Amino acid sequence: MQYITLNTGASMPMLGFGVFRVPDKQECFEATLEAIRTGYRLIDTAAVYTNEDAVGEAVRAAIAEGICTRDDLFITSKIWVKDFTDESTADKAIDASLKKSGLEYLDLYLLHQALGDYFAAWRALEKGYRDGRLKAIGVSNFYPAVLANFCETVQVVPAVNQIELHPWYVQAGALANMRDYGVVPEAWAPLGGGRYALENETIGTIAQAHQRTPGQVMLRWNLQRGVVVLPKSTHAERIRENFDVFSFTLTEEEMQAIASLDMGYSGTRIKHFDPEFVRSCLGTSRISR
Ligand SMILES: NC(=O)c1ccc[n+]([C@@H]2O[C@H](COP(=O)([O-])OP(=O)(O)OC[C@H]3O[C@@H](n4cnc5c(N)ncnc54)[C@H](OP(=O)(O)O)[C@@H]3O)[C@@H](O)[C@H]2O)c1
Repeated sequence: MQYITLNTGASMPMLGFGVFRVPDKQECFEATLEAIRTGYRLIDTAAVYTNEDAVGEAVRAAIAEGICTRDDLFITSKIWVKDFTDESTADKAIDASLKKSGLEYLDLYLLHQALGDYFAAWRALEKGYRDGRLKAIGVSNFYPAVLANFCETVQVVPAVNQIELHPWYVQAGALANMRDYGVVPEAWAPLGGGRYALENETIGTIAQAHQRTPGQVMLRWNLQRGVVVLPKSTHAERIRENFDVFSFTLTEEEMQAIASLDMGYSGTRIKHFDPEFVRSCLGTSRISR
């Protein structure tokens, strides 16, 4: 495992396991435990994924099996937009995440979207960070202008910004902006959501040259440019495959060939400025208010 140092001084694993779209408790529990058995130490959940409880159970099972201690693990969750209304609501949401997961602290807690009154929610996260419930705090889906303004304004600069990053959405400008503020970049959908990984010719050729799979090449590419990756899978063989990315190195030419696949927009087609998306996150609209 490779680690990266956060602005808190803590070490964060550069490869983690994501559990988005695994609402079934048993499936999430089994996949997360399989991931920890495989060697993953970072687990990425969120209040809105409705599986913080299953992740907490897998953590306890792994500790009971003697695979690791709580200190070895790095558990991330995220506060959802509906709890951004004011500081006290956000503070309760932190406690709800802790209660659901059954954990005494979270290693990282993120604002899930730059929507609603995220400054009020951030003040609650700053409080949680100061009182030790949250070992580090960060943001997700904060694009450069929003992140720069945020970092210049808040008391605690986010440790991490989790955004969509894969060869079809390279986001070099966003990475440069994060570097300026010492914010660690973390990739969601590092396999492009799984839809293109096995099909692209450039990635396929590079994978063959290294006797690796396309998915492994995609993960390795982000790791080599300093980006933390969070592949998701509910299949044991893929969980293991996605973990085996530390024993080969892409050449500079291969790195550039992969970066040239950039389409410059979200491969998962989530449009953060789409009124319908924004309204669905906020659970309200100007009209209904
Ligand atoms: N902050 C945010 O707004 C946000 C948004 C999206 C995601 N995330 C986080 O990022 C994590 C990863 O993102 P994601 O789940 O959307 O996408 P992803 O990890 O890029 O792709 C997951 C998909 O790829 C498939 N897959 C997994 N390993 C594979 C392999 N080796 N070869 C081919 N296909 C493979 C999976 O199928 P199987 O499960 O069937 O193997 C699944 O359908 C999430 O779980 C979540 O923790 C955060």
